[in-house]
Amino acid sequence: MKTAATVFPTVLVLLLLSFQTPSALAARKSYVVYLGRNSHGVSKGTVLNGVEMSRTYHKLLASCMKSKEKAKQAIFYSYSSHINGFAAILEDEEVEQLSSHPEVVLVSPNDEYELQTTRTWEFMGLEESGGHVPDDSIWKKARFGEDVIIGNLDTGVWPESPSFDCSDTMGDIPSRWKGSCDTSDGFKCNKKLIGAKYFNKGFSAAAATTGRVVPNLTAADDASVTSSARDEAGHGSHTLSTAGGCFVPNANLLGSANGTAKGGSPKARLATYKVCWPSCYAADITAAFDAAIQDGVDILSLSLGSSGAREYSSDSIAIGAFHAVRNGITVVCSAGNSGPYASTVTNVAPWILTVGASTVDRRFVSSVTLGNGEQYKGFSFHTNTSPAKQFYPLIRGVDAKSADADDSDAKYCFPEALDSSKVKGKVVFCMRGGSDVEKSQGISQAGGVGVILANSFSTSISPQAHFVPTSMVSKQDSDSIASYISTTQSPEAYLSGETEIGEVVAPVMASFSSVGPNRLTSEILKPDITAPGMYILAAYTESVGPTGGGDNRRLPFNIISGTSMSCPHVTGIAGLLKTIHPDWSPAAIRSAIMTTATTTSNKGEAILTSSGSNATPFNYGAGHVQPNKAMDPGLVYDLNLTDHLNFLCYIGYSSTQISMFYDKSYQCPAKSNTSLSSINYPSITVTELSGEITLTRTLKNVGTPGTYTATVRAPTGISIGVEPETLKFEKSNEEKSFQITLKPEETAGSEYVFGQLTWSDGVHNVTSPITVSRAENRVQLM
Ligand SMILES: *[C@@H]1O[C@H](CO)[C@@H](O)[C@H](O)[C@H]1NC(C)=O
Ligand SMILES: *[C@@H]1O[C@H](CO)[C@@H](O)[C@H](O)[C@H]1NC(C)=O
Ligand SMILES: *[C@@H]1O[C@H](CO)[C@@H](O)[C@H](O)[C@H]1NC(C)=O
Ligand SMILES: *[C@@H]1O[C@H](CO)[C@@H](O)[C@H](O)[C@H]1NC(C)=O
Ligand SMILES: *[C@@H]1O[C@H](CO)[C@@H](O)[C@H](O)[C@H]1NC(C)=O
Repeated sequence: MKTAATVFPTVLVLLLLSFQTPSALAARKSYVVYLGRNSHGVSKGTVLNGVEMSRTYHKLLASCMKSKEKAKQAIFYSYSSHINGFAAILEDEEVEQLSSHPEVVLVSPNDEYELQTTRTWEFMGLEESGGHVPDDSIWKKARFGEDVIIGNLDTGVWPESPSFDCSDTMGDIPSRWKGSCDTSDGFKCNKKLIGAKYFNKGFSAAAATTGRVVPNLTAADDASVTSSARDEAGHGSHTLSTAGGCFVPNANLLGSANGTAKGGSPKARLATYKVCWPSCYAADITAAFDAAIQDGVDILSLSLGSSGAREYSSDSIAIGAFHAVRNGITVVCSAGNSGPYASTVTNVAPWILTVGASTVDRRFVSSVTLGNGEQYKGFSFHTNTSPAKQFYPLIRGVDAKSADADDSDAKYCFPEALDSSKVKGKVVFCMRGGSDVEKSQGISQAGGVGVILANSFSTSISPQAHFVPTSMVSKQDSDSIASYISTTQSPEAYLSGETEIGEVVAPVMASFSSVGPNRLTSEILKPDITAPGMYILAAYTESVGPTGGGDNRRLPFNIISGTSMSCPHVTGIAGLLKTIHPDWSPAAIRSAIMTTATTTSNKGEAILTSSGSNATPFNYGAGHVQPNKAMDPGLVYDLNLTDHLNFLCYIGYSSTQISMFYDKSYQCPAKSNTSLSSINYPSITVTELSGEITLTRTLKNVGTPGTYTATVRAPTGISIGVEPETLKFEKSNEEKSFQITLKPEETAGSEYVFGQLTWSDGVHNVTSPITVSRAENRVQLM
């Protein structure tokens, strides 16, 4: 008995310990494993098919795990078309063993990436592309992006959306398309939406190994992870329709932004690669790149990224994009929503086209008119069913209080604090705060006809998709309206909404748009460009309501903000350029977009930041995209595979690391004093300038013959010389080089300074931003 009594507690303790020991569970994690060239003893020139590749991956892993069966269970992706490697769930020891295997270059964690809409979702809005994407001329010339194939790595799409339903206007699917359509969950493709695939094994592996509760991916208990390419979140439908959606007349959000919705390349073919559930994992992103390249897309759009720039060799987007660009595919990515703070820009690889976000000249006005005739301008997306310019009784929330509610809850109009009978048929005056959409929902249910949302601080005013006509007004206007109510016998009001165009200065940089300098490679300016990303109207899912959670409305369009929204605008424009110039490289397409951008607003002034200061190339790169000019840039700064490989050499990558990007052997140029600033990029960036530096750039003529002359606007305190000052191009595709010399003057200041180089033949202006910092400045910049 004695022994039994002592043994029993010991067993219990051991059991508890084994649950608490982290090594048993937490050591298993998911990884992406990259192999070098000529791995698995394959002789040069032999091309393995997918099955053979996955067999060799199993063999390699089995040799490390000492078990065929274990290896088979561990691998959840065998990348076979373009990326040499696989994804697997591994224990720490196995990671160590694999890492030292001669054929393995890197065992990289299956990291999480984020979708790039605004952080708060409060800014979510809508905006159709009519006002700012190409006008008729480029659409005409590009035949609306006819037959260019645009792929999107995102949350999938809602296939029934009208933005993907114009099959009858499309010809046969181009025969070069090798993709397919996964029809799970009732997903149907058509001649517009030609491809659909989903990748969730990385998400599932990450969730399973981090102990997060993950439903079986076939289960419908969590709608966001159904095993299909169907978009349950709305983000992917929005982005892909912005890049290449059909023409859809009378598209609006509750009346706001009413017009014809359309993508930048409205006649493009579209393919969705669902990788976000809604968080996105490296293993799935890698699988999607591998598939999209194989399927034959022309342009890839990624409105996702890590929250800050990530080393190229451990960034599945940078690696996937390298393979895509090598295959002639332009890859467009969002710059991130971590602004307005410096050094927040992500997706900074020089083979990626990186897009910041700015406003357009449109506002969603909802005016309040009081019984005394005074009118106040507020904002809302709900303009559909405004009371028809007829006055309604106006009541303060606190005066419509239910018997047992707090005054302060009623002041804010929290639904349970209001008495329905007092709200019915009235416009209700509420303090802003908490969920304002829930307030308009409650007032709508109580039979109220309108809501005035009063700011008690001078915070920014953001329109939202309300349930009744609503107007969010400034603090000053709130005070006036409150005083009208308290001094009037029978206060009354009506609301009237309209979408106002052309009144305000635009573009202005969006405050959330991520900002340079490039934290990883400061000699490459990022972002490259800015495009509309504030209050964009585009297709949505019918799986959730426009404001999310408790919103039971199902609407085909929604208004959202983010660099997620600006990215597909540029994707659509890249599609048009690809249609007009099928022979242009991804770098040439980017150059055309950058060198023709503008740095002035619709009022002819410098583009501003959201706080009213002058924006710089760190905000907008080369400036705001001008699609019509981009189709005829005159000259381009081109880059090819050699240039991209040399970039990897210059940043110090070993030939083993380079083999993650390139499957053949590559000999880096002999060590030289080549500056990263000398890459033939369409922007010119020199950091820590001490003495004089001379950079060489090469221009290629993609227009008519012409003589171009250089004009420089030198950054303050930097003297700049260009040699030669004129370049004469006699035929198309002719290349000419020039040298640009930068030298700091004694008086140079202590901050980054900005300038501009323009080559002009009188018809084309080929403009590059110049960004310089002096060596001494380094300490201040950190
Ligand atoms: C997943 O499926 C397995 C077997 O099919 C089952 O045992 C498990 O309970 C399921 N998990 C969830 C979260 O539904
Ligand atoms: C949208 O515009 C069209 C055409 O101008 C018009 O017929 C329609 O009524 C408008 N819809 C809304 C909700 O304003
Ligand atoms: C890239 O361009 C350079 C000249 O600009 C040329 O020497 C090189 O061969 C090209 N590389 C490829 C892969 O085309
Ligand atoms: C770099 O090399 C060139 C010649 O190849 C030379 O003229 C130049 O002075 C060197 N620059 C530096 C900073 O060493
Ligand atoms: C080129 O730039 C010059 C100087 O800024 C300007 O006057 C001219 O209108 C521009 N030309 C074109 C075609 O944009």
